[in-house]
Amino acid sequence: MQLRFVDSDARAHATPIIALAVTEEADGSAGALASFDEALDGRIARTLRRGDMRGRDGDEVVLFGAGSGPERVVLLGVGKTEEVDAEKIRRFAGRAVRAAERLRVEGVALMIDGLGAVEEETAAQAAAEGAGLAAWRFTELKAPEEEDPPTQVTAADVLGTGDRDALARGTVAGAAIARGVNLTRTLQERPGNVATPTHLADEATRMAASVGLEVTVFDEGRMLEEGMHALLSVSRGSAEEARFIVLRHDGGAEGDPPFVLVGKGLTFDAGGISLKPPTGMEEMKYDMSGGAAVIGAMQVIAELGVRANVVGIVPSSENLPSGTATKPGDVIQSLAGKSIEVINTDAEGRLILADALAWGARLQPAAMVDCATLTGSVIIALGHHAAAVLGNDDVLVGELLEAGQISGERCWQLPLWDEYKKQLDSETADLKNVGGRPGGSITAASFLSEFVGDTTWAHLDIAGTAWGEGKLPYQRKGALGFPTRLLVQWVRSRTG
Ligand code: BES
Ligand code: ZN
Ligand code: ZN
Repeated sequence: MQLRFVDSDARAHATPIIALAVTEEADGSAGALASFDEALDGRIARTLRRGDMRGRDGDEVVLFGAGSGPERVVLLGVGKTEEVDAEKIRRFAGRAVRAAERLRVEGVALMIDGLGAVEEETAAQAAAEGAGLAAWRFTELKAPEEEDPPTQVTAADVLGTGDRDALARGTVAGAAIARGVNLTRTLQERPGNVATPTHLADEATRMAASVGLEVTVFDEGRMLEEGMHALLSVSRGSAEEARFIVLRHDGGAEGDPPFVLVGKGLTFDAGGISLKPPTGMEEMKYDMSGGAAVIGAMQVIAELGVRANVVGIVPSSENLPSGTATKPGDVIQSLAGKSIEVINTDAEGRLILADALAWGARLQPAAMVDCATLTGSVIIALGHHAAAVLGNDDVLVGELLEAGQISGERCWQLPLWDEYKKQLDSETADLKNVGGRPGGSITAASFLSEFVGDTTWAHLDIAGTAWGEGKLPYQRKGALGFPTRLLVQWVRSRTG
């Protein structure tokens, strides 16, 4: 998809359709609405006056253009001016793309003037993100529809009359973010027989070469040498080999402590010997969403030339039952030196993350953030509208809460109090891998906290947010790419 800022008079811009935002307060007498109103002989003001368009969030009216310039003008209500924020703009752009699909045109223009108090660069970024995300589809495993194929929007032009440099910068950032999130989504959608650990490593390697990241991939032999027994214990039941993927972006000064991003790359979670029930098991291909988000975020960080050292780590494995699989009751070692009694082999994410976090901690990070589809319990706690965030440093947690708010990928803090740790006491090992049903997401995070040493660290449980119905205008059902945008926003917020 081509996403660009176009510095020209919107009324003269040749496009099949241009989207204009209408707030509840708008009467057509100012800004882009007024200028189009003039070109359209007062039809916009009349549409507003007659109440065909009231500017409420979701309202939509399509008008024909004036001959030259845009062929159609779609007025999209965005609600009250004071409530317009970056997320409203993402949705506005998504709705513009959906309108283009419905009208069967492949190009769309987005006029971002008049969108409340949102700063220009932020507005342009949000518009480019929304359009780039909305246009994405996962089609690679289906024959093209011969009769009545859906329209693929291939170009979105961002238009605005403000500071050109800011608008251009925002558009470039938004386009890179959308590409990164769409890479995450593509990897998430690929089924377990395609997206194996080796495949994830290959895709990370290909991506790294295309944007200039350094990449290292450990095979199982190397993991054994390192002492990553917890990760290897999960992969034991599987014919597919595990991979440990490390991506490095050297955008800071040499020796600056890196920001470390860790993502669970469990390419299929059958539960292992503690086998999951069959209903819905096919969805467990998305158990690599955290890893995919780290790969997507690293691509964006490289493309935007973020001025910081950032390391992305993706431990990747399958979790299958077999004669060689780890069994409930087995005690395994870990890279950090702590022994673990595996009570339930379905609590495997925390095992592969234990080694990845211990390995990441050795890099002496400025801060380390992991994301993982870790527990079903987070869906009970927060549903599908927020990820859980837990960590050993409230400043870092606060930064992630804010990055969530800005990026539109929200998270909500759960407590990581010492009391919960007792649920992980084991008779035979240093700790066990499950803490029972009460506070399942918290005990899972408590388990992870045992492997980060004194690193400033936080964890995002994305089991409820990485995949879903895709009800927002810029989403589709299935892979949501969460928390790629949040990770990028957090790293950018730390580097100014
Ligand atoms: N991958 C699952 C968590 C999950 C559940 C992700 C639903 C997405 C949707 C994880 O490995 C798992 O199985 N967790 C168990 C932990 C339990 C055995 C302590 C769970 O949540 O049931
Ligand atoms: Zn599991
Ligand atoms: Zn899992």
